[in-house]
Amino acid sequence: MKRFDFLVLGSGIAGLTFALKVAPRGRVAIVTKKGRAESNTNYAQGGIAAVTGKDDSFELHVRDTLTAGAGLCREAAVRTIVEEGPARIQELIELGMKFSESENRADDGSRGLDLGREGGHSRRRILHARDMTGHEIESALLNAISKQPNISIFENHLAIDLIPSRKFGIHDGNRCLGAYVYDRNNNRVETFAAPVTLLATGGCGKVYLYTTNPDIATGDGVAMAYRVGASVANMEFIQFHPTCLYHPRAKSFLISEAVRGEGGILKNLDGIEFMENAHPMKSLAPRDIVARAIDSEMKRTGADCVLLDITHKPAQFIIERFPNIYQTCLSYGIDITREPIPVVPAAHYQCGGVVTNLDGQTDIPGLFAVGEVACTGLHGANRLASNSLLEALVCAHRAAQKVLHDPLPSLRDFSIPAWQSGNATNADELVVVSHNWDEIRRLMWDYVGIVRTNKRLERAQKRVANLQEEIREYYWNFIVTSDLLELRNIATVAELIIRSALARPESRGLHYNLDFPEPNPDWAQRDTVLRR
Ligand code: FAD
Ligand code: SIN
Repeated sequence: MKRFDFLVLGSGIAGLTFALKVAPRGRVAIVTKKGRAESNTNYAQGGIAAVTGKDDSFELHVRDTLTAGAGLCREAAVRTIVEEGPARIQELIELGMKFSESENRADDGSRGLDLGREGGHSRRRILHARDMTGHEIESALLNAISKQPNISIFENHLAIDLIPSRKFGIHDGNRCLGAYVYDRNNNRVETFAAPVTLLATGGCGKVYLYTTNPDIATGDGVAMAYRVGASVANMEFIQFHPTCLYHPRAKSFLISEAVRGEGGILKNLDGIEFMENAHPMKSLAPRDIVARAIDSEMKRTGADCVLLDITHKPAQFIIERFPNIYQTCLSYGIDITREPIPVVPAAHYQCGGVVTNLDGQTDIPGLFAVGEVACTGLHGANRLASNSLLEALVCAHRAAQKVLHDPLPSLRDFSIPAWQSGNATNADELVVVSHNWDEIRRLMWDYVGIVRTNKRLERAQKRVANLQEEIREYYWNFIVTSDLLELRNIATVAELIIRSALARPESRGLHYNLDFPEPNPDWAQRDTVLRR
């Protein structure tokens, strides 16, 4: 058994920020299922929303967030995160993060930071590092972590399950004692014990067939927390990003909303602008509206994609502002300075998650959750662009302050049960596991996507329940593999998304159900909370 003071599951912005802040107080283990940089954070393009501009104010950022959230945000959470954001960003800069600077110079010759614009924002307020913001943040944080002797990183280690407390041999379910972790390098399961466990495992894009997320995003944190009895809320609100590159060889490549922020225009394949009638902000409307408008345009015209056109901007500007997007598209034979980009919507962000307060506390003592895995009330029914990196930074700081100020309990009073491997004997039928992966992802895309109906949701629910039966059988009979563990998690998350969607008899924000096409005032401010 490995014992630490703090166990951090995940090495994106949430996990790394928390680890850095608690390291002065004790020994920290960061467990991460692939290489240390592999995370949604590493692929973030647009940037971090924060109030730094002269024409901006906290009030405007709060208002834009509440408007996008469609009546479901917790205003106190929005206000705290917006107001504490600039201080956390300053800390990131002090760690070595370099944001892009503005072309304009102040009277003293200094340059301020360049502020980008994205959908739903009434002001330019997105701090960015060209179109590679996430990669720069991840690098700055990992660099700082490498200087901390108190932090150990366990790569290729996949957390399987959290360990609930068992006092005097009775499962009291009231404390998290750590996690069982599958060491992929050595094919064995290890026990990591700690009085404080932070879930920072990110989102669940891989539950859907088409996603902007990398392979790590299989909803493990939500599934693990749900299994030990934590509350999970608002899982019906899955954000579909309107513009993922459409190309047969491209896997999950995002075309940042910042391209529309800098003037990119959505058109159909005949070159006609179709956002004109959809929203006064046209191509820069909030994401739910743009994604639905694209979905409807593709269905109306029978086309496989729509176009995003930025060719009217000077080529030099496009290449300097979006070097990653420019180069990647060019590698697929698309010169974005001369031709429009084929794009489609794809699953992008999980607005709901494990219920926490603003200090990352879940309803299970010893278990914290921060970042995309958590539901703090910031995003409501639809996340405002570039608010997620901000939320992760602010809440990781607050969670660290909380555990630094509270005394750490001793684990000596608790017995920590050994990992039970069931009857695991063979891996003969692993091909079935991969078929089940495909089946869940396709049925979620077809029946639980941008536009839903109760009939489709019920059909998906039955099929997921059947698959879960099969998965339970493999789980106890086959040797544990990453694919099987992740399959179990995507099935659980699929179940939670469908149950939450069926529980909400209205359309609001990202949840659009043709059987209830309007918001129902009785459901404003009502979360869909599920607990095992
Ligand atoms: P992640 O960064 O996803 O990190 C999760 C970590 O947990 C990873 O290290 C993963 O390997 C690990 N992990 C997962 N499961 C396990 C397990 N079982 N055991 C061990 N480790 C595990 N947001 C913005 O605000 N601005 C943007 O510009 C922006 N652009 C984006 C672009 C793309 C392409 C994508 C996909 C997302 C973007 N987002 C953006 C969203 C944002 O990047 C994420 O919400 C945010 O980075 C999540 O951070 P996190 O630390 O919570 O999780
Ligand atoms: C983007 O760059 O379009 C992604 C921004 C976000 O998801 O917040």
